[in-house]
Amino acid sequence: MNTIIGQWQESGQRPESKDGRLLITIDGPAGVGKSTVAKKLAARLGYTYLDTGALYRGVAWKVRSSHVDPADSKQVEDLLSTTKLVLTAREQTLSVFVDAQDVTHELRSLDVSQLASTVAALPQVRQWLLPIQREFANEGGIVVEGRDMGTKVFPQADVKFFLDADPDIRISRRYRELHADDQQKNWDDLRREMTIRDDRDRSREVAPLIPAIDAMMIDTSNLSIDQVLDHLTEVVSARQ
Ligand code: DC
Repeated sequence: MNTIIGQWQESGQRPESKDGRLLITIDGPAGVGKSTVAKKLAARLGYTYLDTGALYRGVAWKVRSSHVDPADSKQVEDLLSTTKLVLTAREQTLSVFVDAQDVTHELRSLDVSQLASTVAALPQVRQWLLPIQREFANEGGIVVEGRDMGTKVFPQADVKFFLDADPDIRISRRYRELHADDQQKNWDDLRREMTIRDDRDRSREVAPLIPAIDAMMIDTSNLSIDQVLDHLTEVVSARQ
């Protein structure tokens, strides 16, 4: 089991991968299928899975429960200086603890999604989460997913993927997911919220959502999860 505790600390680059166990990054916008694919790819390879969105959601959860103004970077920075964020991974299941409270099941709501995207635009938040992410992936043998994995957090990753899909397809995937999870949502509201979040994630000044120059681009619009997974597995096998 990997356990990482978030604190202010410096971290260097990852050492060379051990025993051919690779560091694989998957970036892309919401609703593109990256969580499902990343989790399944990690399971196939016997690797750890890291969903970095869960970390931003953990910070958002803390900001919301502390009634701190997410637009006030100083207040958020002060809050983080007394926050303990712990991430545990057992096989492909991640748990997020904020100040020793397991908040994993409170992180998927739409308001936490929006707030996560808002706090993710703050350089202080990104800086605070950087060593946590790097230390989690220290030994390779991991599939990490997010928005800036291949560009900022792990520029030296062994294999990088960037998944994208037609916006309407991404919205309908997310719509089905939310309904399966009993979070009823009007289609137009969901479309508006996802568009705002996407625009914010793509246009922020620090670590915007863009493909790394050496990332393999995959359009998942007309592909099933298994087709994407088979494609990724083929690419990774050729690198092992
Ligand atoms: O992947 P997700 O939907 O759980 O991510 C929630 C928000 O967190 C997303 O809108 C942007 C932010 N995020 C980020 O900025 N960088 C990452 N590596 C992962 C997530």
